[in-house]
Amino acid sequence: MDVFITGVTGFLGGELLTDLSKREDIDKIFCLVRASGEENAVARIKKVFDLHQDTFDSQRIIPVTGDLADPHLAENLKTDRRLNGVRIIIHSAANTSFSKIYDSLVEKINIDGLKQVLAWAQSLPDLDLFTYVGTATICGSLVKNHVTEDMSPDLSAKHLVKYSYTKMMGELLLKEYLPEDRILVVRPSIIMGDTREWVPRSYVILWALATLNELRLVPANAHSKIDIVPVDYVSQSIIKLVFNKDRKHRVYHVSSGEEASSTPYLSTQAIKDLFPEKPPFRFADKKLLADMKKWTKGTTLLPEDSPLREFSNYLDFWVENFGNNSSLRILLYALEPYIHFIELNQVFDNSRLLEDTDMGPSVPAHIYLQTVGKYLDQINVFEGAIDP
Ligand SMILES: NC(=O)c1ccc[n+]([C@@H]2O[C@H](COP(=O)([O-])OP(=O)(O)OC[C@H]3O[C@@H](n4cnc5c(N)ncnc54)[C@H](OP(=O)(O)O)[C@@H]3O)[C@@H](O)[C@H]2O)c1
Repeated sequence: MDVFITGVTGFLGGELLTDLSKREDIDKIFCLVRASGEENAVARIKKVFDLHQDTFDSQRIIPVTGDLADPHLAENLKTDRRLNGVRIIIHSAANTSFSKIYDSLVEKINIDGLKQVLAWAQSLPDLDLFTYVGTATICGSLVKNHVTEDMSPDLSAKHLVKYSYTKMMGELLLKEYLPEDRILVVRPSIIMGDTREWVPRSYVILWALATLNELRLVPANAHSKIDIVPVDYVSQSIIKLVFNKDRKHRVYHVSSGEEASSTPYLSTQAIKDLFPEKPPFRFADKKLLADMKKWTKGTTLLPEDSPLREFSNYLDFWVENFGNNSSLRILLYALEPYIHFIELNQVFDNSRLLEDTDMGPSVPAHIYLQTVGKYLDQINVFEGAIDP
């Protein structure tokens, strides 16, 4: 059986590729990779296996050079005879940026790019399954607490970032191209780090925790529930769902659910002692973020009665830690959407996943962070703020 997968140079895609490569029922794994040519594409895939300290079998893992931004991608894939026998597609590639400056690119890759892959998928004679890696956050910000799969997609959802809107629109597109019985939608919640004691291979999301670790004053509800899952759990869950022919549903959350969810308090508790030189974590109302941003524009701009003045030791720490306030300002603007996500207090129901696989619940973030949290200081938070 041949499989085609996109996004393998990314955080989740790399994990999926190395996990898939262990399956003996798969003959070839074709990987869509952006590259300047064949040699560069092979090198990019080999790097993924090197990062996983795994063996790259060039006979089975085959790069297909292509770009989701290319309006001729579908045609190019259709004329590539090597792909005629593909039975399973896993579309994991996406532009995951939350930053407004990337909104049009996010739309182009996540919607137009998906259309290209779907138009090609439609032409495959033996396609069994198209797996779309969506996101549980397509439910938007109006839905609170316990979120089930059936609540989305909902066109009236209010999106905090363009990214989740495009992922919702992507889900809606699938049925226009393929029959329902060929579609599987997996919706991870928030993927952060992994349970193995590895140096992080991706700063996605982990960057936000690293930034909170640098700030130590967190303008968010300490006890808001956050649904976080480690990447190794997400990859294994997706693969189990893809190969489970008896699965009962078309859409699955891959999430922590209530029992394995975390909170800002628990996650920061897990890492607090790893960096004893920093001040203790303190939580404050999210409204404080506005004053924090104001303060970075000019300390005199802060109103006399600002509650931020109560935290003068943190202001001193920031001056010492960041030196110049414009760097801190960049961090705060990039952090803002993450604070809004934290405040939603959303937990994504995982009963479908638990019933249709033998995965069991994930390890809570505050448990695995106790061991992997020590790598947080390897993250360049400024680099991540520009391209989180
Ligand atoms: N991370 C999370 O917390 C999270 C949560 C829920 C759902 N998801 C979903 O999971 C999937 C993977 O996310 P991730 O965190 O692994 O993202 P990621 O690390 O940013 O990886 C994105 C992947 O997409 C590829 N890609 C981007 N633009 C492309 C283009 N124009 N043409 C071809 N490939 C392109 C990237 O290739 P390059 O290396 O060439 O850039 C990379 O391989 C996405 O669909 C995302 O929506 C992620």
